[in-house]
Amino acid sequence: MLIKRKRGWELRESEATPEAMFHDRRRILQAMGLGALTAAASPARVALAAAPADPSAGLYPARRNERYTLDRPVTDEKLATTYNNFYEYGSQKTIAEDAQELPIRPWTIAIDGMVEKPMTLGIDDLLKRATLEERLYRHRCVEAWSMAVPWSGFALKALVDMAQPLASAKYLRMETFENPKVAPGQKQFWYPWPYVEGLTMAEATNELAFLVTGMYGKPVPRQDGAPLRLALPWKYGFKSIKSIVKFSFTDKRPVSFWEKLQSSEYGFWANVNPDVPHPRWSQATERVLGVDGRRPTLLYNGYGDYVASLYQGLAGEHLFM
Ligand code: MTE
Repeated sequence: MLIKRKRGWELRESEATPEAMFHDRRRILQAMGLGALTAAASPARVALAAAPADPSAGLYPARRNERYTLDRPVTDEKLATTYNNFYEYGSQKTIAEDAQELPIRPWTIAIDGMVEKPMTLGIDDLLKRATLEERLYRHRCVEAWSMAVPWSGFALKALVDMAQPLASAKYLRMETFENPKVAPGQKQFWYPWPYVEGLTMAEATNELAFLVTGMYGKPVPRQDGAPLRLALPWKYGFKSIKSIVKFSFTDKRPVSFWEKLQSSEYGFWANVNPDVPHPRWSQATERVLGVDGRRPTLLYNGYGDYVASLYQGLAGEHLFM
């Protein structure tokens, strides 16, 4: 890497501690409390006010699937929608306002590669084919913060079934939009845009892998990955790619955005494990947004019953980073 400056992903150990959370919370509260005072001056706030209503709003709230339960309260909606990672809008957590620049209609999704049925379709056509449900999931970022979210959407497996992958397809590669005109973070040339993520076919068709179109009983907001993102609750949050425009079925293991940047810290598997530290900080505990103190992190983020069998026979792989 030629440019010597601290990157967003080069989080220091001290920034993954409760003290950092204290400062982050203060920043969030300040942002909320002082928002009105700065509203007139901020172009992004003007955009928020002007963002057109989401045409899918009538689909929510979706019926809750009671199979997926939480061991903790749902995170306050305001917190979950104002504390984000979305590098297309910068490396700071407070990108919610700026992300309102993202146009989410029309929004075309391509399904290609090793499939019987390659297709492109608009998000509203996809929504018409799907049966939406709500699931309560834990969400654990590799930076050691977490939340609990009521996502709405449908199983990724439904999209896989629609595409009819060939037997030769081993992986699903997913890609985010690329448009630096509406996402200034994408002008930062040292990042390998567009954001890419990947899963094995067994992971993609696991019942937990969930394509998210809504959140808190409403369409998912832009800052959280509108109009279509992934939720993989047993993996670190960076695997849950936002604002997806392409699904490609392939026999080559995809190299993700973070893996390309720093493969020694962010791998392909990224399954949550409290006993495997990140090279620069512990993963033993997490700070739950909106809650004082830390709580122990759970193996596979508590979803081992659903997913542990996916990783049998893969002992040689770095499954937890
Ligand atoms: N997807 C895209 N396209 N760009 C991103 O920067 N950040 C990831 C993931 N998906 C990211 C992304 C990371 S690091 C996390 S923790 C989650 O999104 C954050 O999701 P949230 O902001 O809805 O909590």
